Amino acid sequence: ASADAVALGELLAVAEEAAAKGAEVVREALDKPRRISFKGATDLVTETDKASEDAVLAVLRRHYPRHALLGEEGGVSGDTDSTYLWCVDPLDGTTNFAHAYPAFAVSVGVVRGSTPVAGCVVEFAGGPHAWVTRTFSAHTGRPTTCNGKPVRVSEVSEVRRSLLVTGFGYEHDEAWSANMELFKEYTDVAQGVRRLGAAAIDLCHLSMGIVDAYWEYRLKPWDMAAGIVIAQEAGATVTTMDGRPFSVFERSMLATNTRLHPEMLAGTAPKTRRLLEEGVDLSPWFVPP
Ligand code: IPD
Ligand code: CA
Ligand code: CA
Ligand code: CA
Repeated sequence: ASADAVALGELLAVAEEAAAKGAEVVREALDKPRRISFKGATDLVTETDKASEDAVLAVLRRHYPRHALLGEEGGVSGDTDSTYLWCVDPLDGTTNFAHAYPAFAVSVGVVRGSTPVAGCVVEFAGGPHAWVTRTFSAHTGRPTTCNGKPVRVSEVSEVRRSLLVTGFGYEHDEAWSANMELFKEYTDVAQGVRRLGAAAIDLCHLSMGIVDAYWEYRLKPWDMAAGIVIAQEAGATVTTMDGRPFSVFERSMLATNTRLHPEMLAGTAPKTRRLLEEGVDLSPWFVPP
């Protein structure tokens, strides 16, 4: 083990502490008017996104002043030569939060190289008058838990018996259009395709077997890092949408309950290869130092 190797259990405990702090900030904001600014015409950010990120990063900096940190709102900080990169989505599902639609989360994951090794997601569900949270936790080599109890992916083995989920980013480019086609194709053959609007939660839902597969183009490391390890340690298989080995810096992701992986890839891989042939840039988003 390298000199700065940290025990996985310790990393997870810090991820949980940091996510809980972010969730406290979100919880306090639930019944207050939203203060919104715009990153793009329909790409929102609220004061709560920023306050949650500050709360999460303060915990991480206190425990690991020498680790690298990547937050959606503030970018990279800390020591970028570190073995560990913390990927923080202080509020995943901002649009849902802005409308009080019950699907948003705080997501804190830690990546070694380009592989997520520990993560915690606090999901807000239930909605006005009935808010509840669920906490998903995982590190490599240990079964994923939800509120402390082990969870497992589903055993559905045919797309025609499956419930699927996907997402669409704010950038309405060729990959977005290609995914509209996939949405149509899978809506025709699966029992349903959902579009919840919070990537971290989609991966948690896969981990507990309430959806059977999830894919999306152009996610960022903070959307995926925690959710990936949560899904994998519950039995999920994760690759790029054209079937290559996954890293959090990739720009396409297919995560399934494992049994569905070959059948799902048969649909997503040709579409993704066609995008690559057309010169659409799906190269890794951020190359770690
Ligand atoms: C977004 C959500 C959404 C996904 C987008 C993300 P944000 O994150 O995870 O489900 O489709 O690609 O950008 O902006 O709400 O944190
Ligand atoms: Ca955002
Ligand atoms: Ca996000
Ligand atoms: Ca976010």
